[in-house]
Amino acid sequence: MTTRPDPAALADLALETARLAAELVRGRQAAGVSVAATKSSDVDIVTEADQAAEALIRDTIRARRPDDAFLGEEGEAETGTTGVRWIIDPIDGTVNFLYGLPQYAVSIAAELDGEVVAGVVLNAATGLEYVAREDDGRLVATRDGRAIAVRGEAPLSHRLIGTGFSYDREVRVVQAQAVTRLLPHIRDVRRLGSAALDMCAVADGQLDGYIEEGVHLWDHAAAGLIARAAGARTELAQGAGGLTLMLCAPAHGFEEFREATRQAGFMAPVTIAGNGE
Ligand code: IPD
Repeated sequence: MTTRPDPAALADLALETARLAAELVRGRQAAGVSVAATKSSDVDIVTEADQAAEALIRDTIRARRPDDAFLGEEGEAETGTTGVRWIIDPIDGTVNFLYGLPQYAVSIAAELDGEVVAGVVLNAATGLEYVAREDDGRLVATRDGRAIAVRGEAPLSHRLIGTGFSYDREVRVVQAQAVTRLLPHIRDVRRLGSAALDMCAVADGQLDGYIEEGVHLWDHAAAGLIARAAGARTELAQGAGGLTLMLCAPAHGFEEFREATRQAGFMAPVTIAGNGE
Protein backbone atom coordinates (compact mmCIF):
# COMPACT_ATOMS: atom_id res chain seq x y z
CA MET A 1 0.00 0.00 0.00
CA THR A 2 1.37 3.46 -0.86
CA THR A 3 0.90 6.27 1.66
CA ARG A 4 -0.77 9.54 0.64
CA PRO A 5 1.82 12.29 0.22
CA ASP A 6 1.72 14.82 3.07
CA PRO A 7 0.66 18.28 1.76
CA ALA A 8 2.79 20.03 4.39
CA ALA A 9 5.86 18.13 3.19
CA LEU A 10 5.02 19.10 -0.41
CA ALA A 11 4.85 22.76 0.70
CA ASP A 12 8.24 22.45 2.39
CA LEU A 13 9.78 20.96 -0.76
CA ALA A 14 8.18 23.68 -2.89
CA LEU A 15 9.65 26.41 -0.66
CA GLU A 16 13.09 24.84 -0.53
CA THR A 17 13.09 24.50 -4.32
CA ALA A 18 11.74 28.01 -4.94
CA ARG A 19 14.57 29.44 -2.81
CA LEU A 20 17.15 27.68 -4.99
CA ALA A 21 15.45 28.85 -8.18
CA ALA A 22 15.17 32.44 -6.88
CA GLU A 23 18.89 32.44 -6.16
CA LEU A 24 19.58 31.36 -9.73
CA VAL A 25 17.19 34.02 -11.08
CA ARG A 26 18.81 36.78 -8.97
CA GLY A 27 22.24 35.72 -10.21
CA ARG A 28 21.09 35.87 -13.83
CA GLN A 29 19.59 39.34 -13.25
CA ALA A 30 22.89 40.59 -11.83
CA ALA A 31 24.75 39.18 -14.85
CA GLY A 32 22.42 40.90 -17.36
CA VAL A 33 19.30 39.61 -19.11
CA SER A 34 18.48 39.20 -22.78
CA VAL A 35 15.59 37.62 -24.65
CA ALA A 36 16.20 34.00 -25.71
CA ALA A 37 12.97 33.50 -27.70
CA THR A 38 9.41 34.70 -28.16
CA LYS A 39 6.29 32.55 -27.69
CA SER A 40 2.64 33.44 -28.34
CA SER A 41 3.47 36.90 -29.75
CA ASP A 42 6.47 39.18 -30.32
CA VAL A 43 6.07 40.63 -26.79
CA ASP A 44 5.67 37.23 -25.06
CA ILE A 45 9.29 36.57 -24.22
CA VAL A 46 11.37 33.84 -22.64
CA THR A 47 14.87 34.33 -21.27
CA GLU A 48 17.61 31.79 -20.69
CA ALA A 49 16.97 32.28 -16.95
CA ASP A 50 13.33 31.11 -17.31
CA GLN A 51 14.57 27.89 -18.93
CA ALA A 52 17.43 27.32 -16.49
CA ALA A 53 15.21 28.00 -13.44
CA GLU A 54 12.53 25.58 -14.63
CA ALA A 55 15.15 22.86 -15.27
CA LEU A 56 16.56 23.43 -11.78
CA ILE A 57 13.09 23.21 -10.20
CA ARG A 58 12.25 19.97 -12.01
CA ASP A 59 15.64 18.39 -11.23
CA THR A 60 15.48 19.37 -7.54
CA ILE A 61 11.98 17.96 -7.06
CA ARG A 62 12.66 14.88 -9.18
CA ALA A 63 15.73 14.03 -7.07
CA ARG A 64 13.41 13.68 -4.05
CA ARG A 65 10.18 12.57 -5.73
CA PRO A 66 11.11 10.78 -8.98
CA ASP A 67 7.59 9.60 -9.89
CA ASP A 68 5.63 12.86 -9.76
CA ALA A 69 4.11 14.66 -12.76
CA PHE A 70 5.06 18.16 -13.95
CA LEU A 71 3.41 21.02 -15.79
CA GLY A 72 5.67 24.01 -16.39
CA GLU A 73 5.55 27.16 -18.47
CA GLU A 74 8.85 26.46 -20.20
CA GLY A 75 8.98 22.67 -20.61
CA GLU A 76 7.11 19.57 -21.72
CA ALA A 77 4.34 18.23 -19.48
CA GLU A 78 5.46 15.01 -17.75
CA THR A 79 3.16 12.35 -16.37
CA GLY A 80 3.67 10.58 -13.03
CA THR A 81 2.31 7.75 -10.90
CA THR A 82 1.97 9.25 -7.39
CA GLY A 83 -1.06 11.53 -7.78
CA VAL A 84 1.21 14.56 -7.28
CA ARG A 85 1.66 17.09 -10.09
CA TRP A 86 3.94 20.11 -9.77
CA ILE A 87 2.78 23.27 -11.55
CA ILE A 88 5.66 25.62 -12.21
CA ASP A 89 6.20 29.15 -13.44
CA PRO A 90 9.96 29.68 -13.10
CA ILE A 91 9.66 33.47 -13.57
CA ASP A 92 6.21 35.01 -13.43
CA GLY A 93 6.78 38.57 -14.57
CA THR A 94 9.45 37.89 -17.17
CA VAL A 95 9.10 41.35 -18.71
CA ASN A 96 9.78 42.94 -15.30
CA PHE A 97 12.77 40.61 -14.98
CA LEU A 98 14.06 41.77 -18.38
CA TYR A 99 13.74 45.44 -17.39
CA GLY A 100 15.02 45.00 -13.81
CA LEU A 101 11.70 45.98 -12.21
CA PRO A 102 11.63 44.18 -8.82
CA GLN A 103 8.32 42.38 -9.32
CA TYR A 104 8.96 38.87 -10.64
CA ALA A 105 8.47 35.58 -8.87
CA VAL A 106 9.12 31.87 -8.83
CA SER A 107 5.78 30.09 -8.53
CA ILE A 108 5.48 26.41 -7.54
CA ALA A 109 2.23 24.61 -6.71
CA ALA A 110 1.72 20.97 -5.73
CA GLU A 111 -1.46 19.31 -6.85
CA LEU A 112 -2.63 16.08 -5.23
CA ASP A 113 -5.20 14.00 -7.11
CA GLY A 114 -6.18 17.05 -9.17
CA GLU A 115 -6.47 19.52 -6.27
CA VAL A 116 -3.83 22.15 -5.44
CA VAL A 117 -2.75 21.49 -1.83
CA ALA A 118 0.43 23.58 -1.46
CA GLY A 119 1.74 26.73 -3.07
CA VAL A 120 4.76 29.01 -2.97
CA VAL A 121 5.25 32.36 -4.71
CA LEU A 122 8.68 33.82 -4.04
CA ASN A 123 9.52 37.33 -5.27
CA ALA A 124 13.01 36.65 -6.60
CA ALA A 125 13.96 40.35 -6.58
CA THR A 126 12.96 41.14 -2.98
CA GLY A 127 13.06 37.68 -1.38
CA LEU A 128 9.45 37.98 -0.12
CA GLU A 129 7.98 34.50 0.37
CA TYR A 130 4.27 33.74 0.12
CA VAL A 131 3.24 30.21 1.10
CA ALA A 132 -0.01 28.26 1.41
CA ARG A 133 0.63 25.30 3.67
CA GLU A 134 -1.46 22.81 5.56
CA ASP A 135 -1.03 23.21 9.31
CA ASP A 136 -2.90 20.79 11.62
CA GLY A 137 -5.34 20.02 8.80
CA ARG A 138 -5.99 23.75 8.18
CA LEU A 139 -4.71 25.70 5.19
CA VAL A 140 -2.75 28.81 6.20
CA ALA A 141 -1.37 31.62 4.02
CA THR A 142 1.82 33.32 5.13
CA ARG A 143 4.23 36.04 4.04
CA ASP A 144 7.74 35.40 5.34
CA GLY A 145 6.27 32.97 7.86
CA ARG A 146 3.54 35.26 9.25
CA ALA A 147 -0.15 34.67 8.64
CA ILE A 148 -1.77 37.07 6.19
CA ALA A 149 -5.38 37.95 5.40
CA VAL A 150 -7.28 39.89 2.77
CA ARG A 151 -8.17 43.54 3.23
CA GLY A 152 -11.36 44.53 5.04
CA GLU A 153 -14.62 45.49 3.36
CA ALA A 154 -14.72 48.62 1.23
CA PRO A 155 -17.28 50.14 -1.10
CA LEU A 156 -16.54 49.45 -4.75
CA SER A 157 -15.60 53.09 -5.24
CA HIS A 158 -12.73 52.65 -2.73
CA ARG A 159 -11.31 49.42 -4.10
CA LEU A 160 -7.84 49.27 -5.67
CA ILE A 161 -7.87 46.68 -8.45
CA GLY A 162 -4.92 44.90 -10.05
CA THR A 163 -5.07 43.83 -13.65
CA GLY A 164 -2.86 42.79 -16.55
CA PHE A 165 -2.92 42.73 -20.31
CA SER A 166 -2.64 39.77 -22.64
CA TYR A 167 0.30 39.23 -24.95
CA ASP A 168 -2.30 39.07 -27.74
CA ARG A 169 -2.62 42.60 -29.15
CA GLU A 170 -6.28 42.15 -30.21
CA VAL A 171 -7.30 40.91 -26.75
CA ARG A 172 -5.58 43.99 -25.27
CA VAL A 173 -7.98 46.28 -27.12
CA VAL A 174 -10.94 44.53 -25.45
CA GLN A 175 -9.18 44.64 -22.07
CA ALA A 176 -8.37 48.34 -22.38
CA GLN A 177 -12.02 49.12 -23.17
CA ALA A 178 -13.18 47.16 -20.12
CA VAL A 179 -10.66 48.95 -17.87
CA THR A 180 -11.89 52.30 -19.22
CA ARG A 181 -15.45 51.40 -18.25
CA LEU A 182 -14.47 50.07 -14.80
CA LEU A 183 -12.21 52.98 -13.76
CA PRO A 184 -14.91 55.53 -12.91
CA HIS A 185 -16.45 53.05 -10.42
CA ILE A 186 -13.33 52.10 -8.38
CA ARG A 187 -10.44 53.81 -6.55
CA ASP A 188 -7.84 53.06 -9.26
CA VAL A 189 -6.08 50.25 -11.11
CA ARG A 190 -2.56 48.81 -10.86
CA ARG A 191 -0.71 46.85 -13.57
CA LEU A 192 2.26 45.45 -11.69
CA GLY A 193 3.35 42.79 -14.20
CA SER A 194 3.15 39.48 -12.34
CA ALA A 195 -0.17 37.69 -12.07
CA ALA A 196 1.09 35.51 -9.21
CA LEU A 197 2.30 38.48 -7.17
CA ASP A 198 -0.92 40.39 -7.95
CA MET A 199 -2.96 37.56 -6.43
CA CYS A 200 -0.62 37.41 -3.43
CA ALA A 201 -1.19 41.16 -3.05
CA VAL A 202 -4.92 40.43 -2.78
CA ALA A 203 -4.10 37.75 -0.18
CA ASP A 204 -1.94 40.26 1.71
CA GLY A 205 -4.41 43.16 1.72
CA GLN A 206 -2.42 45.28 -0.76
CA LEU A 207 -5.10 45.10 -3.43
CA ASP A 208 -8.89 44.84 -3.13
CA GLY A 209 -9.18 42.65 -6.22
CA TYR A 210 -7.49 41.38 -9.36
CA ILE A 211 -8.86 40.58 -12.78
CA GLU A 212 -7.01 39.48 -15.90
CA GLU A 213 -7.81 37.71 -19.14
CA GLY A 214 -5.20 35.42 -20.69
CA VAL A 215 -3.79 33.76 -17.57
CA HIS A 216 -2.52 30.18 -17.48
CA LEU A 217 -2.63 27.55 -14.74
CA TRP A 218 1.07 28.07 -13.95
CA ASP A 219 0.42 31.79 -13.34
CA HIS A 220 -2.29 31.23 -10.73
CA ALA A 221 -2.11 27.67 -9.29
CA ALA A 222 0.08 28.58 -6.28
CA ALA A 223 -1.14 32.16 -5.88
CA GLY A 224 -4.79 31.09 -6.09
CA LEU A 225 -4.35 28.73 -3.15
CA ILE A 226 -2.52 31.43 -1.18
CA ALA A 227 -5.31 33.91 -1.92
CA ARG A 228 -8.07 31.48 -0.94
CA ALA A 229 -6.24 30.51 2.27
CA ALA A 230 -6.11 34.24 3.12
CA GLY A 231 -9.85 34.73 2.63
CA ALA A 232 -10.15 35.49 -1.07
CA ARG A 233 -12.32 33.83 -3.63
CA THR A 234 -11.02 32.94 -7.09
CA GLU A 235 -13.10 32.28 -10.14
CA LEU A 236 -12.30 31.43 -13.73
CA ALA A 237 -14.57 32.72 -16.47
CA GLN A 238 -14.54 33.14 -20.21
CA GLY A 239 -13.01 36.54 -21.01
CA ALA A 240 -14.56 38.91 -23.53
CA GLY A 241 -11.50 38.42 -25.76
CA GLY A 242 -12.00 34.64 -25.81
CA LEU A 243 -9.27 33.68 -23.32
CA THR A 244 -9.46 32.45 -19.71
CA LEU A 245 -10.28 35.22 -17.26
CA MET A 246 -9.25 35.12 -13.59
CA LEU A 247 -11.11 37.01 -10.89
CA CYS A 248 -9.63 37.13 -7.39
CA ALA A 249 -11.00 39.22 -4.53
CA PRO A 250 -11.87 38.97 -0.85
CA ALA A 251 -14.87 36.68 -0.36
CA HIS A 252 -16.77 39.60 1.17
CA GLY A 253 -17.79 41.85 -1.69
CA PHE A 254 -16.84 39.30 -4.36
CA GLU A 255 -20.27 39.32 -6.00
CA GLU A 256 -20.23 43.10 -6.33
CA PHE A 257 -16.74 42.95 -7.86
CA ARG A 258 -17.83 40.28 -10.34
CA GLU A 259 -20.92 42.25 -11.33
CA ALA A 260 -18.95 45.48 -11.80
CA THR A 261 -16.36 43.77 -13.98
CA ARG A 262 -19.09 41.98 -15.93
CA GLN A 263 -20.86 45.28 -16.60
CA ALA A 264 -17.53 46.84 -17.62
CA GLY A 265 -17.21 44.17 -20.32
CA PHE A 266 -14.40 41.95 -19.02
CA MET A 267 -16.24 38.68 -19.53
CA ALA A 268 -18.28 36.70 -21.96
CA PRO A 269 -21.67 35.79 -20.38
CA VAL A 270 -20.92 32.17 -19.31
CA THR A 271 -18.68 31.22 -16.36
CA ILE A 272 -16.61 28.12 -17.17
CA ALA A 273 -15.19 26.95 -13.84
CA GLY A 274 -15.68 27.24 -10.11
CA ASN A 275 -12.77 28.02 -7.87
CA GLY A 276 -9.73 28.62 -10.02
CA GLU A 277 -8.54 25.12 -10.88
C1 IPD B 1 2.78 36.94 -17.20
C2 IPD B 1 2.67 37.90 -16.03
C3 IPD B 1 1.86 39.11 -16.44
C4 IPD B 1 0.52 38.74 -16.92
C5 IPD B 1 0.57 37.68 -18.01
C6 IPD B 1 1.42 36.49 -17.57
P1 IPD B 1 4.98 35.51 -17.49
O1 IPD B 1 3.52 35.80 -16.85
O2 IPD B 1 2.04 37.27 -14.95
O3 IPD B 1 1.65 39.99 -15.35
O4 IPD B 1 -0.10 39.89 -17.42
O5 IPD B 1 -0.76 37.25 -18.24
O6 IPD B 1 1.50 35.58 -18.63
O7 IPD B 1 4.80 35.45 -18.96
O8 IPD B 1 5.85 36.62 -17.08
O9 IPD B 1 5.36 34.20 -16.87
